[in-house]
Amino acid sequence: MKLTRRQLLESWWVLPVAGTLGTLGYMADYAYRLTFDKRNPGPPHYLPGPDLALVPAAALGSEYAFYEFSYRQGRVVTPCILMRIPIATPTSLNLKGEHFAGFSRVCTHLGCHVNPVLNTKVLDLSFNYPATHPMLGCPCHFSVFDPLQQGKCVIGKALYPLPRVRLAAQDGLLRATGLEPPPPGHP
Ligand code: FES
Repeated sequence: MKLTRRQLLESWWVLPVAGTLGTLGYMADYAYRLTFDKRNPGPPHYLPGPDLALVPAAALGSEYAFYEFSYRQGRVVTPCILMRIPIATPTSLNLKGEHFAGFSRVCTHLGCHVNPVLNTKVLDLSFNYPATHPMLGCPCHFSVFDPLQQGKCVIGKALYPLPRVRLAAQDGLLRATGLEPPPPGHP
């Protein structure tokens, strides 16, 4: 069917309306995924690595004390963090009633390095997350990861949890023995 010039002029509004509806639909889908599609950490899938001595457990004398380190697997060196946490999680290390968890510091959104954020007021004001305990926060787009939920992302653009470090201990010395790979297609 051939449209006349007059019919075309009368239909000028179709394109902007379709564009606006498409944009709104995309934004709604994006917001839904960021809010409701956060992935839960499942059973760990560690890739083995060197048995790396980290720090004496006694050096992390208070809850949420942390130690940053680099973990090398072949040619890949990953910045990681070891943190003392107040409760046991399915993948934390229990050492005489004290609990430790380790994570990659590489954000699963675009790969910036997450940092421990110990002040919950900072989490509230800067990350817009009403936390009740310290978290790991990404400075790039403000994703927040919960060490008490095995590194699950609780707010922000990241969907996947932080890869977990496999921990061990010998004679009171904490050690890293493996690390999960990043989620497929992610940094
Ligand atoms: S890189 Fe961490 S939230 Fe974007």
